[in-house]
Amino acid sequence: MLVKNAKIIMGTEEVLVDILIENGRFVKFGKDFVENSQKEVLDANFHYILPGIIDAHTHMRTPGFTQKEDNISGSKAAIRGGVTTFFDMPNTNPATVTLEALEEKRNIYKGNSYSDYAFYFGGTRFDNHEEVEKAIDETVATKIFLNVSTGDMLVEEDAILENIFKASKRVAVHAEEEMVSKAIQLARKTKKPLYLCHISLEKELEYIREAKEMDVEVYGEVTPHHLFLSEEDRESTEESKLFLRTKPELKTKQDNEALWKALQYGILDTVGTDHAPHLLEEKKAKLTFGMPSVEHSLEMMWKGVKEGKLSIPRLQEVMSENPAKIFGLKKKGKIAVGYDADFVIIDDGDHSEIRQEEIISKAAWSPYVGQKRGCKVLTTVLRGNIVYHEGKFGKKIGKEILKHE
Ligand code: DOR
Ligand code: ZN
Repeated sequence: MLVKNAKIIMGTEEVLVDILIENGRFVKFGKDFVENSQKEVLDANFHYILPGIIDAHTHMRTPGFTQKEDNISGSKAAIRGGVTTFFDMPNTNPATVTLEALEEKRNIYKGNSYSDYAFYFGGTRFDNHEEVEKAIDETVATKIFLNVSTGDMLVEEDAILENIFKASKRVAVHAEEEMVSKAIQLARKTKKPLYLCHISLEKELEYIREAKEMDVEVYGEVTPHHLFLSEEDRESTEESKLFLRTKPELKTKQDNEALWKALQYGILDTVGTDHAPHLLEEKKAKLTFGMPSVEHSLEMMWKGVKEGKLSIPRLQEVMSENPAKIFGLKKKGKIAVGYDADFVIIDDGDHSEIRQEEIISKAAWSPYVGQKRGCKVLTTVLRGNIVYHEGKFGKKIGKEILKHE
């Protein structure tokens, strides 16, 4: 493939280039390559080209909760939003806490995903550290819930937590407030890299700052909803009081602003959506935590760029480069020679309203309907293949990304 007239960021400079892609990888950047009739030409029309988004935090619900989402609908929503790789969380049914359950999930996904993907393995209160250890090379990290959330995956006992940390290659935690500090202590003691999911409070940032100063390998993630929405939004109508419930809950506007700064200045390292689809009927019937968002994360985060809260190079780091680095995906996350040709073409001037009718997630709603997007995803390319272009989808060529690849 030859991509023409692409606006890319090199360092802090914007440059216009043509890009040669062969065997699914970026091969050469330059100008005026000879057009070869055998090569597919994609004209980027002077729009920005960004590395494909890597969403390290999604709940795609396969298997067990496929009325909410499944691997096909979820990966299609991802690709529409420019997400070329997502990591799926283990609170499915069966939960991904045994090698057998991992294999079952893997078989369902095979040939049935629009986007590339990888899986987390879950730690359990029954101390499954032996299974955790066996799954190390086949999963991105062990996920441990240190607070109550959707599913039944809370682990409370210190000795068991320590066993699971020790058996893991790296650990991702759902930890809130003091539990953030507890997770950091465990990471320090067991010398394991720690990924703190969905940081939502200004005071949690202090724990991360301290840990980074002490050279503990710790990374912080923030979700778009903890940046854009607050408890004021949640409390504004009777419906939003139910729909905008999530774990961790939305916080104050002051927390929103502190998180934006921490993201730009390096205390937080990634944006992950915590895409947690539930049907509105389910949310109305009973208190249910989580909201869908994988398909609008880039279009929303670009608003941060427009409002001067996030630079474009930093957006590329926190949405693509850092997730790849932290989780050891060697060929992903950058527009550079030798990397997988995963990229997104965006229209920086399209600030159209996010509409109900456009939603692809089976959950069929979004907290962002009615808001203006910061940009529009025009085209998504996965390993050199156009998988989404102006409303039309390509084939389901998504593959599992494994550690040893
Ligand atoms: O709000 C949430 N929903 N937080 C979680 O930690 C889990 C998620 C879900 O799976 O629904
Ligand atoms: Zn989650």
